[in-house]
Amino acid sequence: MATNNSKRRFWFKMITIPGAILALYFLLIAVFLWNNPQIKWDWDEVDVSEIDFSGDFTWGVAAAAHQVEGNNTNNQWYLWETAKDEQGNPRILNGQKAGMACDHWNRYPEDIRLMKNLGVTAYRFSIEWSRIEPAESVFDTVAIKHYLQVCDSLLYHGIKPMITLHHFSNPIWFEKKGAFEKAENVDDFIEFVEYVYPIFSSRVKNWCTINEPSVYVVDGYFNGVNPPGVSDPKIAGTVLRNLLEAHVRAYQMIKSLPGGADASVGLVKNMTFIDPYNPLNLADWILSSYANRAFNESTLNFLETGKFNFVMPTMVKIKEENPLAVGSTDFIGLNYYSHYTLKFGFDLDNAFENRPLAHEIPTDMEYSQYPEGFYRAAKRVAKLGVPVIVTENGIADASDQYRDLFIRRYLYALSKAREEGVDIRGYYYWSLMDNFEWSSGYDMKFGLYENNFETQKRRLRGGAEAFREIIIQCAN
Ligand code: FCB
Repeated sequence: MATNNSKRRFWFKMITIPGAILALYFLLIAVFLWNNPQIKWDWDEVDVSEIDFSGDFTWGVAAAAHQVEGNNTNNQWYLWETAKDEQGNPRILNGQKAGMACDHWNRYPEDIRLMKNLGVTAYRFSIEWSRIEPAESVFDTVAIKHYLQVCDSLLYHGIKPMITLHHFSNPIWFEKKGAFEKAENVDDFIEFVEYVYPIFSSRVKNWCTINEPSVYVVDGYFNGVNPPGVSDPKIAGTVLRNLLEAHVRAYQMIKSLPGGADASVGLVKNMTFIDPYNPLNLADWILSSYANRAFNESTLNFLETGKFNFVMPTMVKIKEENPLAVGSTDFIGLNYYSHYTLKFGFDLDNAFENRPLAHEIPTDMEYSQYPEGFYRAAKRVAKLGVPVIVTENGIADASDQYRDLFIRRYLYALSKAREEGVDIRGYYYWSLMDNFEWSSGYDMKFGLYENNFETQKRRLRGGAEAFREIIIQCAN
């Protein structure tokens, strides 16, 4: 009898314990899925022409100073492009340098004509801090005059300028002081903002403070593929916090200056969802959810609540608060390209592998196409309760095989979010023309216009026609 009972207990345990563990495992997965639905549409069933951007909506293109102007020799990227890594290899793919880039500094009148030809009415560009303030507290009126001329020419052609104050590049003097690694250096950026805003305020109403703080941090301080080439999660967290402080203070500075109350000032957030490679693998979920919180939610929560939480277990934990962050953005600039799908690996060197999903259409970058994520991203940033402006979206596609499809599907996804109530006010395509794509050099072709860097001749790509067509279709 006793043996029968203990046998039963034995089998009971053998079944219920693993059963309970399995149930808990799938319960956790269900909770993760519930909070982060992995949306996937059946594109054969979708009519991508069903889009509607009527009403208050602006079509534009975007670029950034170091990527297009040429001859930027006074910022940290210039130093990085000539530097070598520990093995003596160049930092940029095949030793490429920004050099003359698209010579946009001199050719902007022609480029404005190219914008007109697309039918856009807005241009987002950055003013190069290292040109305007070549040495600490020394301001260069020639550089200022140039950007004023660019604004005047844009306005003359009916194109609204949108200025980005910081788009990845720092003056060398600022970099040498430790850039945004040091909280006190934020003062330097604010001094720059205080100087430039009044000069441009009568011409420019739309301002972006900092471009993609999380990307600047991940590439510069986590992966170390961008300057200063550091891989240190603690410094990464500190830099992110300081950049977000810089945003809040830039916002306040502009608002305190004459005309500032009427300016529309926003942070530009890159939304790259970090999804699990295999949604049935709990390890992929745990990994991706921490990465997602560090990359996306830390910034969004800061703007929503004033609380900055940057936590990566065993690596870094920063918890701080600044109530002034709440209400510090008039709009949210949304940069959207794709998602990452992380696969957990026991090999420490590969614990964070991004493995694109086989069914997704590729791009030339390390990520595939994921238009559904545009819809998700718009919905997520809409929770901030301010209008959304898409400040960047585009595809690297040298063959031009996918550009048309990309434009139609991504705009469909955006239109769907708008139809469902997200207050989306504009869309700036990245980019007007091929340009210097940071650590990938000139290999990534994001341009609506193909650029021949020898002759500086630009040519509209076939796939870009979709963008023109949609602008016309939506105007009617
Ligand atoms: C974004 C950057 C932009 C450009 C695009 C492709 O992360 O803001 O400068 O490089 O990616």
